[in-house]
This record gives sequence, structure tokens and C-alpha cells, in this order.
Amino acid sequence: MGEQSRQVLTNCRELFKIAMTKVSPMGPAPRAQGTGIMERSGSLTDRRARSLHFTRRGLLKTGVLAGAAAALPITWVVSADQVALLPDSKLPRPFTTPFGKPAPAVPVRSDATTDYYRIEMTAVQAEIIPGFKTLLYAYGGQVPGPTITATRGRPAVVRFVNNLPPKHPVLGYVSSTSVHLHGSASLPQYDGYASDLTFPTFYKDYHYPNRQDGRTLWYHDHAHEHTAENVYSGLAGLYLLRDTLESTLPIPQGDYDVPLVISDALFRADGNLFFSLNDDNGQWGNVILVNGRPWPVMKVARRKYRFRVLAATISRSFQFSLSSGRSFQVIGTDGGLMPAPQTVTAYRQVGGERYEIVIDFAEYRPGERVVLKNSLGGINETFADTDKIMAFDVTDDAFDPSNNSVPAVLNPNSDAMTAQESQAVAHRSMELRRQHGHWTMNGHTWHQIVATDYQFVEWQPRDGTVETWTVKNSSGGWFHPFHTHLSDFRVLSRNGQPPRAWERGPKDVFYLGENEEVKILLHFDGAGKYMMHCHNTIHEDHDMMTQYEVISDHQAEFSPFDAPAKPQTSEPGDPL
Ligand code: C2O
Ligand code: CU
Ligand code: CU
Repeated sequence: MGEQSRQVLTNCRELFKIAMTKVSPMGPAPRAQGTGIMERSGSLTDRRARSLHFTRRGLLKTGVLAGAAAALPITWVVSADQVALLPDSKLPRPFTTPFGKPAPAVPVRSDATTDYYRIEMTAVQAEIIPGFKTLLYAYGGQVPGPTITATRGRPAVVRFVNNLPPKHPVLGYVSSTSVHLHGSASLPQYDGYASDLTFPTFYKDYHYPNRQDGRTLWYHDHAHEHTAENVYSGLAGLYLLRDTLESTLPIPQGDYDVPLVISDALFRADGNLFFSLNDDNGQWGNVILVNGRPWPVMKVARRKYRFRVLAATISRSFQFSLSSGRSFQVIGTDGGLMPAPQTVTAYRQVGGERYEIVIDFAEYRPGERVVLKNSLGGINETFADTDKIMAFDVTDDAFDPSNNSVPAVLNPNSDAMTAQESQAVAHRSMELRRQHGHWTMNGHTWHQIVATDYQFVEWQPRDGTVETWTVKNSSGGWFHPFHTHLSDFRVLSRNGQPPRAWERGPKDVFYLGENEEVKILLHFDGAGKYMMHCHNTIHEDHDMMTQYEVISDHQAEFSPFDAPAKPQTSEPGDPL
């Protein structure tokens, strides 16, 4: 932000200190209008001020906010949403909750070629904050959803059944869903197209080819305009694709291969999740969750562990490091193992990205505590404990010493990393901007895609070819996680410089910071229309998403609407 807007921020922070309004816990306010004030936390106030300045400049000048009584007790309130928040004193202290992993998904049936799953989406009550019940939307009754493990070359079919309440009990929107397997080159009709919706009482079978390199994928909701609420409410789970390269390398496996699904949340005074319907810039929670548990603590043995880190956040990005200051290795990115491991002392991770990191706890003494830290503030709102993620307590427990190394060569042969810039047959560019109150991609939004009956496409690359795309964020004040469906890519350059060490692997999301320009090299293998969007899900829902179409001479092109959801009354008695 420029100096002038900083000045405005300071002024309205003062203004907000006296701008207390009545707290009346009630249902959701309609999306769109409101003053959007949060009190007590300077950082929240900053964000509100920023969004006010950004979209509602007129209000600041009118002094509308200044009239309220100053005598009310200080409490957390989002006046536009008329919701009181849970006070800090009710939140658990970091590192008091034991670590846990999401339970595995179990196929309902397997045959010679395929594994079949059935996963229901339902509303559940969970105790995330001790003493409070939180309403969540769950896959398979748990948050995060059950972890699906697949083997390369063996397809899977997952029946996702929408048994959610007709409307979200807290937020009031219709519980439409679309399931996207992020990281999979799925056919268009199984890719979780935002407008291919499954409504309550319907189900849809999703076919997953599992033909790519081993990697960490995640399935999550992608319903148009409600992706953020659905994912925030709990609709996200891991999907691990294994292959022989990955399983024959001496890297940590089994108990030492540990998923960390990291998210953040704000809680209302009644224990439910707080989600603002009045902010299209982003949402940052004051509670950090790992696999659904607040700031957990994990006991570790003195050996190497491989962590599959997923940032399953609505908006927050992270800069991870260890409290010891010691280095660790990055071995995998979104599209699987990197050509070579990279040693770092910190790395950045944005929403949607996956990184696989190896931490060697042999470097620590038994009894030592190592904290996984987050040092990223900036546009991300920070709170008292958002600088901590989880803790590792080093024990002298016996351990299996096999698979305890990281070789110098991991996967040198992925398509994304072997493609050469000299092979590129087209060079395209895209600009991400805020325009006329919308988040846009080359000036387009998903509403415009809908308005053309899904005919509009940004570009039509050809199957089997390689292209460069340069993506630019010329605005200050915002960062965007840029994501392409279908195609893995390689980061060629960031602002004309080589990519960061941790970005040197196959990717499908990258961080695009303020005033940054990132050039990627994509290799297309598929046919049909696929979305590309900002993975700040608030931006995505408001409406920072467009599509491209891969044209193929030899692969059939399906429409994203070729496999519509069916009513459960027609669900075969013999599952799948
Ligand atoms: Cu993880 Cu289109 O998204
Ligand atoms: Cu995706
Ligand atoms: Cu964005």
C-alpha cells in the first residue's frame, strides 16, 4: 500500500477504537452490504480498514462509524456480520492437543483393475475447541476427510454422496457441491467443474485415472461461489498417489511418512466457525489447525520424517521454518518428487500448494522440542499464535532405521521438469487484477464464462505441446496463488530471476506476490475445458476464475457436464 493509504489506515484504526456497535449474535447477514468492523485486534482492524479503504472508501469519509458508544466492553465483533467471536481465553493453548492423522479411506469394493469408494458428505458436530461444539461439513464423517491411497496405473472411482443439509445451518447458502481432485489430470466431467453441481440428495461418481507420477493430491469442494465456505466448513481430504519410483527410493515411508493438512479458522462465541459474508479480500483465522487439531504436538523418534504439507487454507499463506533455525530438505512439490532435493531453512507455501519436506530429528537431543513456525504476515492477518503451527517433541524411542535417507536424485524424469523452454509453441500472458469491484483474470470472471454458456475460453493450447505462460500481478496490496487444472508446470522464472529453491519441482499452484511476474512452462496432456483460478478461495468465489481448452487430435473431448449428478433414489443397491 502507498503512503497515502497507510495514512488512511491509521486514521480509521483510531476511528474504529471508538466505533463499537451492539453485539447481537444472530444469523448471517446477506452478502454484500455492511461496514465490516472487527474490534480489539489491531490486525483485524487493519484488515477491515484495508477492505473498507479498498471497496468502500465513501464510508470512511462520512464518519458513519464514529457515533457508537465508547463505553461498551471491548469484545470481538464483526458488526457487518453481527457475530461475536470466541474470546482468546476460551481457545486452547498451543501444543496442548495431541497430533493425529486423518483416518484412511477404505474401498467398498476392488476388482482386477479398479478400487471403488463411497464417501458421504454430511454435517457433523466436532469438538475442535475444548468445551465447544463446531458444526462442520465432512467427507466420510471426518475433517479432514479420509485419506485415499491410490497406486499409479490403477484407476479409482469415488462415489461422492451429498447428504448435507439443504442449506448450511449457520451460513444459510444452498449446500451445493462439486468435488475436485486437485493434482489429477481427470477428464473434464470428473474434474469438479465449478458449475457441475451436486445438490443435497444427489450423488456423483468421479473417475480418477491415476496415471501420473506419484504425488500428494487433495480432494476438495469446488462449487461456484461457495468453494470457500465449503472448504472452510471441512470439505477437504488427502489423496496419495503412490508409484514404484517413490516407493523404492530410500526416503521415509510408512509411519515416517506423515501428512500435515494445515488450515486456519476463526470461531464464533457459540463455537461455530466464523465466516464473513462481507469480505471478498480474504479470511484469516486466529486458530491454526493441523489435520483438524489446534496447534498439535507430535512425539518423534530421532530419525528422518517425511511430511506431506498441504496448505488447505481459505486465504492464508505461510513462511515455514523450525524454531531451532536448522535446515531441512524439500523433496517434493505439487506434482510429486523434485529432480533433486533442496536444502532450506525456510520456505513459503500458499493455499493449494503441497510440499514434501524431510526433517531429520537425529539432529536433536531427546527431550528437545522443535516448533514448526510461520513467520509470514504482510497481507496475511496475524494473531497472537499464528506464528506457530505445531510442535515436535523429540524422544529416544526405538525406531525403524530403514528408509532413512534422501538421495541426491529423486525424480529427474517428470514431464513438467523435462520439458524445455525451446520447445514452446506459444507464449501467452495473463494479468490478475481487481477491476470494477471484481477479481479478474485477463479481465474475465467465472460469471462471464457462465454468461457465454461455458463457451468462452481464454486460450486453446494443443494436446502434446509445450507453452510458456507469464502471469502478472501488477497490483500492490494482494497476492494470488495461481492454479491451473489438468496441467503440471515448471516455474521458469520469478521476476526474471531463477525460481526459489523450493519451487524447483513439478507444480500446479504458485505464489504470485505483489507486483510480481512469474513465467511457467506447461506441457499439455488431455483434452477439453479446464479451469484456472486464484486459490485464495475467497477471490476464487468472487470471481477470479476462468478456463482454457486443450484441443486434441487423438483424445476424445468431453464436456464438463457429461456426467451429471444423479438422485440417490436411483443409486444402485449394490454400491458402484
Ligand atoms: Cu484446489 Cu481448482 O482447485
Ligand atoms: Cu486443482
Ligand atoms: Cu487472488
